[in-house]
Order: sequence, then structure tokens, then C-alpha cells
Amino acid sequence: MDKKITIDYSFTFPFINEEKINSYKNDVLKAMDTLENSSGAGNDFLGWKNLPSEMLASKELQQIIQVANEINENADLFICVGIGGSYLGAKAVTEALLHPFYNSLPKNDRNGPKIIFAGQNISGAWLSAVLDEMDKVDSVYVNVISKSGTTTEPGVAFRNIKQKMEKKYGKIESSKRIIATTDAKRGALKTLATNEGYRTFVIADDVGGRFSVLSPVGLLPIAAVGLDITKLLKGAQEASIYGKEKDLVKNPAATYAMVRNILLKEGYHTEILVNYEPVLHYISEWWKQLYGESEGKDGKGIFVASVDFTSDLHSMGQWIQDGQRFIFETVLDIEESNSNLKVVSDKEDLDGLEFLAGKTYSDINKKASQGTLLAHYEGKVPNIIFSIPELNEYYIGQLLYIFEQGCGISGYLLGVNPFDQPGVEAYKKNMFALLNKPGSEKAKQAIEEKMKNLPSGKKTI
Ligand code: PA5
Repeated sequence: MDKKITIDYSFTFPFINEEKINSYKNDVLKAMDTLENSSGAGNDFLGWKNLPSEMLASKELQQIIQVANEINENADLFICVGIGGSYLGAKAVTEALLHPFYNSLPKNDRNGPKIIFAGQNISGAWLSAVLDEMDKVDSVYVNVISKSGTTTEPGVAFRNIKQKMEKKYGKIESSKRIIATTDAKRGALKTLATNEGYRTFVIADDVGGRFSVLSPVGLLPIAAVGLDITKLLKGAQEASIYGKEKDLVKNPAATYAMVRNILLKEGYHTEILVNYEPVLHYISEWWKQLYGESEGKDGKGIFVASVDFTSDLHSMGQWIQDGQRFIFETVLDIEESNSNLKVVSDKEDLDGLEFLAGKTYSDINKKASQGTLLAHYEGKVPNIIFSIPELNEYYIGQLLYIFEQGCGISGYLLGVNPFDQPGVEAYKKNMFALLNKPGSEKAKQAIEEKMKNLPSGKKTI
């Protein structure tokens, strides 16, 4: 029988206690109701709540699978262009579930095309490398993803990629190889897709970027590399069912939201997401966007960071063990490893590690995680632990949904609208003014004034 992801917060005691939990439970149940009844701030962005069951029952899922199969069978290289929520979900799931060196595998050992991501930065060096990759293969497909259709990074990257596609295949063929995922009606990408005749998938109005991994935004790229999106959605659907549990012990999303907010009240304002499998690195990046962008507003919010252990035990480990005490850790523990590799024997034993010979790496990794948990706990770092039965589509689907629901509940407990992101406009305004965007002359003057009035140091940009 399929299992559920569970949460254990015993290692947050005595930093928090039963009394605090009991006195907070009603607030948590209220926040859950607010989310469930769609009666809170940002309630026009709650489409993600029902995405798993709606997608599973939809014709759209079949269309996504059909196009994904076409890409899977015909493409040597698949490029996803997008940023933020239009990138991190697919990046996180594909990294978590594909071979660690997937793109370097011989074609026959891959279950689909190579996949690379573009438009998630403004680095010319990065984009040049993406364009070079396009020269190395016969068949390229592109999925350009932007809900607003006006985001700078994917917008400019797609200009170059589109031009290259048209040079490589001609206009007609390239428009068959480019798929757009965007708003149903609005935005420059929608207009472009209509003009060029691209096949299009829609991001629903009520699904915000960082909550869109289980929409066509994430599903098409994930399926195109041969992963099972039905299984992913079924896992998420299962989590949406146990996410309704009012008995909080059975509800990891609500418990998580509760415990992290109590910790925040106790002064633990920085949360570090921990993994012991490097393929989970981008799950952490996705999670950071989800919680950072949802909660960091109105002068509030837990600062979210992440580490990959045991690698980062040799960098950030010292700080976590002995530094200032305002951090807590949330650990992603994979119960059943998918590797049986054992440490081989070397009788010379120059490194003194022969006692590990014959043990599996996963056993050693487990002991490393237990040892670290105890050490950090003794170093006064509260720990929350998510137990994930194994790494596959089903459990990653559960995890994504738990984090999304947990984020909604947590945002309401914190007293913010978790579904907007007013702060992300500030850098764009300055950047556009500095780049002399028509109409931004006044903003540029204001920046120059501010620079003159800096107390000291560099006064020009
Ligand atoms: O969560 C969000 O809404 C944002 O992070 C967006 O996903 C990101 O800015 C990309 O936006 P768009 O899909 O409109 O290009």
C-alpha cells in the first residue's frame, strides 16, 4: 500500500512546548478553514488547491501527455524557458527523479531528450552556452513558459532562442517545435504564440506562479523527459485528502505551518531546509521561492535557506552547530534509498575507514543524518523532520502539495497574503530606469539623486 509522508517535531522540544502548541491549535484550525473556505487574503489565487484532482480528471492532462510524448520521442534537446514559478517546479522534480548525470547519459540510457533551462537569469554566458547546445543536436523542442508573458529574463532569452530555432528549422517548422505555456488571453507571449501559431497550454488565472508546478507549467516539461505525471498528481491528490484532517497529527502540512510559526514566535526566524540526497537541491530552491515570496512581506516572515548535507556540513556545518541561535532546521529524510552501493574493502586501511567496508552508502548516510540531528539538537537547533518513504513521482507529488498547503496555512497564521508578491517589482523599476526604458526618465533622475545623497563611497552606477 502507498504510504504517506509524515512529520516529526519531537526535536523542537524544549524550544517549544505542549502548552504553546495547545494554545495555538485553534489559530491553526482557523487558518486551515480560511484556506479551505477561500475566505482569506489572496483568495482569487487558490486554483492550486484543486489542481491534482482537476488535472487528473481533465482532457488537458491527456493533451499534455500527448505533446510530452511527441517531445519525448522526437527531441534530442528540450529547452524550457522561464523563471521563478515558471521554472523551479519542473527543475526541482526532474532533478529529484532523473539520473544525477542525466544529460550526459548516452541517448539509449535516457528515457527522453536532454533537458536544459534558460531564461532564469540574464547571463549572456549562460545563454550563449544554451545556444551552443542547440548546434550540437538535430532535433530541438522549446517550451516557453510565462504566466504574465512580460517577464524580462525569459522574454529576452526567448528572443535569441526563437531566432536560432528559425535559422535552424525555418519559421514554419520552428513554430511546430515551440510550445508556449501562458495566460489564456493576456500578455505578450499569448499574442506572440497566436501570431506564430505555437501550440499553447494555459496557466489558469487563479494559479500563481510559485503554486503552478502541478499545472501545465510543470507537468509538460516533467512528462517530456519520461516521468510519470499521473503518479505525481496522484501523490499530490492523496496529500490534498489528508491535508483536510483536523486531527493535526495526521496532517503534516498544518503541523508544519503550526510548528514553524511557534518557533518564529520564540525567536527562531531562520529556517534551513536540509537534505541528504543532492538530487533534492532544487526541491529546496523551489521551496525557498514558495515560502520566501509568499511570507516575506509587511516586515514579517521566516528567512528561508537551504543546505545539502553532508556536503555543507563541511562548510555551513560549523555555523549551524555553534553560531548565533536563531535558526531551525527542517529535514527531508528519504526512508528507503534507491541505491544499494556498498563501500569496498581495502585491507591496507591507510584511511582508517575499513570499518565502513561492506556497509551501504545509504546506511552510512542515514547514520550521518542521525548523528547530525543529535549534534545540532544539542547545539540548540530545533529540528522538524519530514519522512518521505522513497524518491519517486508519487511521494514527490505528496511533498509538493504538503509544502503548498503548508505555505497557505503558514502565511495566514503569520498574517500576510501568501499569494501576492508586491515587492518583486522594486528591482525591475530601477533596472528599467537604468536601461533607459521609454517613460522611465523620472525614475532614472530619482535614482541619480539618491546616489548623490549616499553618505559615502561609490556615488555612480
Ligand atoms: O510566483 C510568482 O508569481 C513569480 O515568481 C513568477 O513565477 C515569476 O516571476 C515568473 O513570472 P511569469 O510566469 O509571469 O514570467
